[in-house]
Amino acid sequence: MEATVEGLPPLAVYKVEDTYFVTDNLCTHGSSLLTEGWQEGAVIECAFHGGSFDIRTGEPIGHPCTVALRTYEARVEDDWIVITAPGARTGSPE
Ligand code: FES
Repeated sequence: MEATVEGLPPLAVYKVEDTYFVTDNLCTHGSSLLTEGWQEGAVIECAFHGGSFDIRTGEPIGHPCTVALRTYEARVEDDWIVITAPGARTGSPE
């Protein structure tokens, strides 16, 4: 499923078994949205050239993709999928 968050590129949200994962939605090989591709287990296949990625890590696993997707730490809170933006700090300030 697609998701948008102000200040971030288009995102893709996946469910693998009982866990949610979030990655950038734009394929790193070209300008195709991964949400238009096909998910099988923990693998998303791009609809444009058939490259694929491991949803859990963002690593490319199928030709012609060679650059990893950005992934976001995701968790469920009160029925919402919450992500940690890249570079965000957690914990209390000193
Ligand atoms: S644009 Fe996704 S594999 Fe080429």
